[in-house]
Amino acid sequence: MKAAQINNYGGSEVVKINENAPKPTVSQGQLLVEVYAAGVNPVDWKIREGYMRQMAPLKFPATLGGDYSGVVAEVGEGVPGFKKGDEVYGQASITRGGSGSFAEFASADVNTTAHKPKNTGHVEAAALPLTGVSAWQALVNHIGLSRDEKILVHGGAGGIGSIAIQLARYLGAYVATTVSAKDIPYVKELGADEAIDYKNQPFEDIVHDYDAVYDTVGGETYVRSFKVLKKGGIIVSMLEQPRSDLMEQYKVNAIGQFTQVNSERLSKLAELVEKHAIKVHVERTFPLEQAGEALSFLQKGHPRGKVVLRIKED
Ligand SMILES: NC(=O)c1ccc[n+]([C@@H]2O[C@H](COP(=O)([O-])OP(=O)(O)OC[C@H]3O[C@@H](n4cnc5c(N)ncnc54)[C@H](OP(=O)(O)O)[C@@H]3O)[C@@H](O)[C@H]2O)c1
Repeated sequence: MKAAQINNYGGSEVVKINENAPKPTVSQGQLLVEVYAAGVNPVDWKIREGYMRQMAPLKFPATLGGDYSGVVAEVGEGVPGFKKGDEVYGQASITRGGSGSFAEFASADVNTTAHKPKNTGHVEAAALPLTGVSAWQALVNHIGLSRDEKILVHGGAGGIGSIAIQLARYLGAYVATTVSAKDIPYVKELGADEAIDYKNQPFEDIVHDYDAVYDTVGGETYVRSFKVLKKGGIIVSMLEQPRSDLMEQYKVNAIGQFTQVNSERLSKLAELVEKHAIKVHVERTFPLEQAGEALSFLQKGHPRGKVVLRIKED
């Protein structure tokens, strides 16, 4: 089968298409999935560049990619609830017990798999697992966001931010978000009540006394965010570890999130998509053969929403 693999860490030039990669075998608790589409996430180029090598060292050749949507080709032992031919989506990352989703077939752990939303194609479904579950885990599990609370979402036009805005609105919250000026109409359409051009307006001059901040940007954006929270508020960051000095100074809670994609969260997201509460925006698709270019586009091209590899036609 065809797979986008690396034999060493590096830039997009290290991504090679192997036409003769062995089809993965399924172990207990796994499914073999024919991959129709694979979502591209920042973590994929971070893995390629070796940023995660201490936490999850790779064995080369390594197939890249985590998020996928596809059709069950084979069911391993101890996998209730799925059968051959089911449309599924989830994660098949080599860092999560899978074989990598940038390939024609992938083995995936049943615990990171769910039935795909019925009202989307594979391309949209493949865009959802990591971003959607990140937003769900932050807003529902960590923040417990409720009606009429105010949340500031940083990076509202990105993969996670664009889902977080819609989820926050669905939960009944008031949403402000930071984006580039060109993306203001896009995030307003997603439901943001206020959009702040992060390159020209300091957000802390505009929003105050917020219940929550969801930070998908990190760095100085994280540090400045403490100023917009009310006492007892909460900040969840996708990139930063909690700063106890700032928590103490502003009397707020801070959480550094490590997203755990699981079947339960994927099924909840699928329900929200089926209810039209969440829509996935795919900015651009690439064929599997251009996996390296797709990663560069995500890294440098400032896409609005998601980038997806289209591997097999629906
Ligand atoms: N901890 C975890 O488990 C976990 C899980 C998933 C993702 N992540 C991390 O979370 C981050 C976001 O992921 P993603 O998939 O949403 O990435 P993405 O699709 O690349 O989106 C990032 C967004 O941030 C915006 N941005 C950049 N600098 C900004 C600033 N100073 N203020 C406001 N917005 C800014 C970008 O807008 P412009 O292009 O206009 O600058 C872009 O829209 C990544 O670093 C990813 O690795 C962590």
